Amino acid sequence: MATHKLLLLPGDGIGTEVMAEVSRLIDWLNKAGIASFETEHGLVGGAAYDADKVAITDATMAKAQACDAVIFGAVGGPKWDAVPYDARPEAGLLRLRKDLALFANLRPAVCYPALASASSLKPEVVEGLDIMIVRELTGGVYFGEPKTITDLGGGQKRAIDTQIYDTYEIERIGRVAFDLARKRRNKVTSMEKRNVMKTGVLWNEVITQVHQREYKDVQLEHQLADSGGMNLVKWPKQFDVIVTDNLFGDMLSDIAAMLTGSLGMLPSASLGEVDSKTGKRKAMYEPVHGSAPDIAGKGMANPVAMLASFGMALRYSLEMGDLADKLDEAIAAVLAKGLRTADIKSDGSTVVSTSQMGEAIVQELQALH
Ligand code: NAI
Ligand code: MG
Repeated sequence: MATHKLLLLPGDGIGTEVMAEVSRLIDWLNKAGIASFETEHGLVGGAAYDADKVAITDATMAKAQACDAVIFGAVGGPKWDAVPYDARPEAGLLRLRKDLALFANLRPAVCYPALASASSLKPEVVEGLDIMIVRELTGGVYFGEPKTITDLGGGQKRAIDTQIYDTYEIERIGRVAFDLARKRRNKVTSMEKRNVMKTGVLWNEVITQVHQREYKDVQLEHQLADSGGMNLVKWPKQFDVIVTDNLFGDMLSDIAAMLTGSLGMLPSASLGEVDSKTGKRKAMYEPVHGSAPDIAGKGMANPVAMLASFGMALRYSLEMGDLADKLDEAIAAVLAKGLRTADIKSDGSTVVSTSQMGEAIVQELQALH
């Protein structure tokens, strides 16, 4: 059995509480002989600042470069509001994404049957929903230069952001989407605004070329990002994998995610390029939520987003898709039994703590083996 090296970065706030449930799961998987994990731990965010006055140390970054997958909790909070800009907790997260060149952000939106009625949409619209948004994460308008605010005089200012995409950036994110689709329902919807944006024209052209050259077996469809957003709310089950740029992806993934329930339920993965020598890629897995200072330290946090992020690591970095499926099954089963953390409680459910939820999921997984 291959041994996988993981770096666990709990961060601060509820990050440490939800990461404890990942450790519980890893311990059990090791003990039961189902998998073999070697874990290292590191500080990031507020925890790193308190210890070393930086958001993440070079030594922790070196560990992140060397492991098979980084499992990240959450960072941030008012306690560190006054720290220098470069040492603020979020800077640790940004350095990880930048130094590991994590250009592909995967955000699944899955509606667990037991939570269909918790959505803001009608249950029949979301029940059984399982889609994947693939967002380009290192290019586009968040990074393009010039990026300025100029004083024009006379009380007028001019703000400029620049959207830039090169062919190779669109090709590699396209490949991530097509590869994912092949393992799912074989359909990719690409979203841009080619009607008003040059980057949209190139995006459409390059995705079409990659499809023609390498992925003819996958169904490809193009939608304009605005009507695509409308379709996401109207009938999300028409989608399988959606691929889009950094800005549209930021918005569309938040919309898609909230179709299915609480922030405490939503996992994500960020992937780098495949190394042509080793066939491996850098990757980081983290819940979508932040450090939730309002509930930190109270044992109330929902660990599902964190555990499901670990499930994505099993699937996309560690070649343990079957185990990832079982973990999803265990989560669904625990929810079906009515166990709920406070953020997803409903009539007739039993409100449990972070550790009770984590324990119940591990027990359920045990029963599935
Ligand atoms: P947040 O995601 O931390 O919390 C938003 C709301 O959702 C809060 O009411 C919180 O209690 C609730 N919530 C979040 N996760 C939950 C969970 N697992 N279980 C139950 N309830 C949960 O976002 P907020 O409050 O805007 O930011 C708090 C801090 O986190 C800020 O410093 C922010 O910069 C940082 N942040 C960090 C992120 C990261 O580490 N990736 C992402 C988003 C925010
Ligand atoms: Mg966002």
